[in-house]
Amino acid sequence: MKISVFGCGYLGAVHAACMAKLGHDVIGIDVLEEQVAQLSAGRAPFHEPGLPELLEEALASGRLEFTTDASRAADAVVHFICVGTPQKQGENAADLTFVRAVTETLLPILKPGDVVVGKSTVPVGTAETISEQVHEAQPGAELLWNPEFLREGFAVQDTLHPDRFVYGFEDTDAGHRAAGVLDEIYRSALADGTPKVETDLATAQLVKVAANSFLATKISFINAMAELCEATGADVTSLADAIGHDARIGRRFLNAGVGFGGGCLPKDIRAFMARAGELGVDQALTFLQEVDAINLRRRARMIDLAREVSGGSIVGRRIAVLGAAFKPDSDDIRDSPALDVASRMQVQGAVVRVTDPQAMDNARKKFPDLTCVDTVEEAVADADLVVLLTEWREYVALDPVALKEQVAVPALIDGRNCLDPVAWRAAGWTYRALGRP
Ligand code: UGA
Repeated sequence: MKISVFGCGYLGAVHAACMAKLGHDVIGIDVLEEQVAQLSAGRAPFHEPGLPELLEEALASGRLEFTTDASRAADAVVHFICVGTPQKQGENAADLTFVRAVTETLLPILKPGDVVVGKSTVPVGTAETISEQVHEAQPGAELLWNPEFLREGFAVQDTLHPDRFVYGFEDTDAGHRAAGVLDEIYRSALADGTPKVETDLATAQLVKVAANSFLATKISFINAMAELCEATGADVTSLADAIGHDARIGRRFLNAGVGFGGGCLPKDIRAFMARAGELGVDQALTFLQEVDAINLRRRARMIDLAREVSGGSIVGRRIAVLGAAFKPDSDDIRDSPALDVASRMQVQGAVVRVTDPQAMDNARKKFPDLTCVDTVEEAVADADLVVLLTEWREYVALDPVALKEQVAVPALIDGRNCLDPVAWRAAGWTYRALGRP
């Protein structure tokens, strides 16, 4: 099938490469020339495990191309909208500039029988507007909403083997025909038994923000329990293990620590609240305000803990921060709790050195005033305190005995509850963590 993918960022680049892997002819379109040049050369513009190999394979097969020339989409019969919907500056709502721009570009080139597939995370109601525009521009074309649930770091696997498909479309012959076209595209995953939920446009858009809101709520729930644990001397990791054994609760996404960040969860819950307000049902989502507040409180608590461990003040203390990405296996620093904490500690007078295996280039660009170093050795040299904020495998595997030789004071705060306190204390470290005695 001939496919165009509009937007070649974290979502679109992976989607384009995966669709080519499935045997389709794909043209990836983006307005950023540098991004297109890199992708065309087989280089992933961001860190995503498995993507470079996949790009190389797909480009070599001749089934994948990238361009800034949107007219190249005219040959395609299915057009995926994969652009970002960031948070508006100074507001909670989502910024739909890129979605609108892609729609404007697409409308004039649509042919009868074409299917437009929205994958971007949008406020409910957006798809209905685009659907009207599509029908007006080309009555023989149809819009479907097919939200994406991929996680950064697992994006290739999540795209090729998703845990479910959601199709939102109008209950008309044209709508069902368009759904059949999407079945054809995802044939192999559907044949493997991947569940599919067919629904209306509004539900499909809501599924995505509901899923991310639930995940954010789960994380903030356990972080709220961490606050209780801190007040009582209890241990939040044992608590999570114990409640997680109940299959109705489940242990996943119950890791307490410095909280959630990234380009999705924080902005999605805020955009969802903003949209609920517009719809006159803001009370239904008031709890998400609390979810957001708990999450942000963890970052402040982290700095308080650093102060406590440093004897009451972090002014002039040399603090090594391990981790800058919002989570491991990613170089994404959007709304990263690690960089937020690091920069605030610096503003409050600490001498901070940050390191990360993948995110240093992005961190240097966004936080030019932060001292960013390339290795753990440079970060921890003569440090008075080590703070672990992103649980990269190599940090979890650090040897407490060897590391102790490199620091001035063996004090560590485990902001992700990912280290073994017994081993670190046995090696002579002061070990502190969020929600643990
Ligand atoms: C999230 C969702 O998990 C995906 O399903 C969704 O498709 C994606 O957003 C999106 O909307 O595009 P992602 O942002 O890649 O994916 O990252 P997550 O793995 O969800 O992690 C989000 C944040 O929560 C990270 O900062 C992570 O460190 C934190 N987290 C996660 C915790 O603090 N505790 C946990 O137990 C789990």
